[in-house]
Amino acid sequence: MGFIEEIKRRRTFGIISHPDAGKTTLTEKLLLFGGAIHVAGAVKSNKIKQTATSDFMEIEKQRGISVATSVMGFEYKGYKVNILDTPGHQDFAEDTYRTLTAVDSVIIVIDAAKGVETQTRKLMEVCRMRNTPVMVFINKMDRPTKDPFDLLDEIEAELKINVRPLSWPIGNGTDFQGVYNLYEKNLYLFSPSKQTLEEGIEIKDLSDSQIETIIGEKAANTLRDEVELFEGVYQEFDNTPYLEGSLAPVFFGSALNNFGVRELLHCFLEIAPSPRPSKTEHRMVEPREEKFSGFVFKIHANMDPNHRNRIAFVKICSGKFERNTPYLHVQLGKDLKFSSPTAFMADKKSIIDEAYPGDIIGIPDSGNFKIGDCLSQGEKLIFKGLPSFSPELFQYIENADPLKSKQLAKGIDQLMDEGVAQLFINQFNNRKIIGTVGQLQFEVIQYRLLHEYSASCRWEGLSLYKACWIRSENQAELNDFKQRKNQYMAKDKYGRDVFLADSSYMLQMAQEQFKNIEFHFTSEF
Ligand code: G4P
Repeated sequence: MGFIEEIKRRRTFGIISHPDAGKTTLTEKLLLFGGAIHVAGAVKSNKIKQTATSDFMEIEKQRGISVATSVMGFEYKGYKVNILDTPGHQDFAEDTYRTLTAVDSVIIVIDAAKGVETQTRKLMEVCRMRNTPVMVFINKMDRPTKDPFDLLDEIEAELKINVRPLSWPIGNGTDFQGVYNLYEKNLYLFSPSKQTLEEGIEIKDLSDSQIETIIGEKAANTLRDEVELFEGVYQEFDNTPYLEGSLAPVFFGSALNNFGVRELLHCFLEIAPSPRPSKTEHRMVEPREEKFSGFVFKIHANMDPNHRNRIAFVKICSGKFERNTPYLHVQLGKDLKFSSPTAFMADKKSIIDEAYPGDIIGIPDSGNFKIGDCLSQGEKLIFKGLPSFSPELFQYIENADPLKSKQLAKGIDQLMDEGVAQLFINQFNNRKIIGTVGQLQFEVIQYRLLHEYSASCRWEGLSLYKACWIRSENQAELNDFKQRKNQYMAKDKYGRDVFLADSSYMLQMAQEQFKNIEFHFTSEF
C-alpha cells in the first residue's frame, strides 16, 4: 500500500465522557468489532472508585492499566483504527487534555438518563479550542431516559455545538425497540437478551407499512412524527461542518448490549477525518509531507521501580517513521536513533519497523523526553497546541529527609517532565510549589517519590486561586507589576512568568490596575 493510502485509512480518535457514562463499555465493544479482543470484560475500566482515593494499590493499578490500554490499535474493514484512552478520573484531567492534542477526532459518550455532565463539558471545551470533529453516542437507551429532543437541545446548549441526529430511538427503557438509522436508512431492532450483530432491516421510506408490522402501529406513528419533526428542525447532514468541529452527528444506542455500536463505528469510519494537519510555531505540517515529524504528548513511567525506564508516546504528524533512523530531537538539538519503538495493537505491544501519520508509537526512554518535545528530520519544528492549564490546587513541596535532597529534586524534575503535575518556583522565596487538578495527584506524587526515588516529601498548604501566565508588550509596566507583586511571582518549568493570584478579587484588581498586561489561564496563547 502506498504512503498516501496508509494515511487515508487511519482514524485516530479519543472517547471522552463523564465517569460512568459508558466509555469503557463502548471501547470494549469497538475492540470486539475489530477482532482486537474476543471476550467482553477484557478491557478493564481505568477509573478509580470514589472511595479509593487514598488507596495506593488503586493508584498503582491505575497506572498499570492505563499504560496497557493507553492506545488501542486495530484493523477493521481496511481501516487502521487507533483509540487513545483518556483517564476517567477527573484528578487526571490534565492527562486527558494532552491526549486530546494527539487525536484527529472524538466520540463523546453521554448517559441518556443524565444528559451532559461536568466532565464532558470541560473536555468539550478542549475540543472546541482545537476545532476537533466530535460525534456523540447517547448511551443506555435500554434504561429510562430523558426525552431525545430535550437531550439534543441540552447537548447544543451545554456543549455549544450544533447537532444532527443520524439515528433515532424508538422508545426507551423497557419500551426500547430499537433505532432507525437515518444515515443508512435501516431499522435496527433491539432485544436485550441477545447482542444483535445482525444487519438492519432496510427501510428506504418511512411511510413503508412494513414498519407497522415490525414495531406496531403506535410506535411506527411516533417514529414518523418525530422524524418529521426533527427533519424540520435540523438541517440535512453535511460533512463539512462536522469536519470543522461545529456540527456533531448523534447516535443512540446501548453499549452494554452492543446495540447501535456498529452503526456508530461504520459511520465514524466513513466520515471521520484521517490525520489532520498539525500546527507548529512557524507553519502547518501536512501528514503527507515526505519528512517524518512527531511530538511527545504523554510519558509513562515504567512500573518497575528498579529500572527507571519510561515510555514516551509520540504522535506521528508527517512522513514515515522508521526504526533505527536518526531523527532530530528538536529541544535537545541532537540526533537520536530508536532501536525498539513499539506499536500498540489493542492489548499487546510489539516492536515495529515503520509507522505512519496518525499512528502512536512508544519509545523507551531513560530521560531524554519531556511532554511537548518534537522529533523531525532536521527541521526545527515546535508543535503547538499542548497548553498547560492553570491548576486548581497548590501546595509547597518540602524535603522531609535532609539526606535525600538530591533524590527529591531529581524525582520532582522527572515527574514534572512526565506531566504528573505542574511545578512553579516562587521568585520571592525560591520555594517549589506543585499545582494539581485534584488531591489524588498529590498522593500519587508523594507515593512515587518515595517508591521510585527513595525521597520523602512533605506538603505545606497554600491557598491560591489561580496561576496566570502573564504577558505584555509594555516591558516597563510588566517590570513594575513583577516588582510590586514580587511575593506572588513564580516561574513555570519553562521559565515563563506566572502570577499566583490568591483570590479572584486580587486578580480582578490586578487586571484593572495593569491594563496593558494580559492574564492567561492557559500557557499557550
Ligand atoms: P465509564 O468508563 O464511562 O466510567 O463507564 P463504564 O463503561 O465503566 O460503565 C459504567 C456503568 O454503566 C457500568 O456498570 C456499565 O456496565 C454500565 N453501562 C454501560 N453501558 C450501558 C448500557 O448501554 N446500558 C446499561 N443499562 N448500562 C450500561 P457498573 O455496574 O458501574 O459496572 P460493572 O460493575 O458492571 O462493570
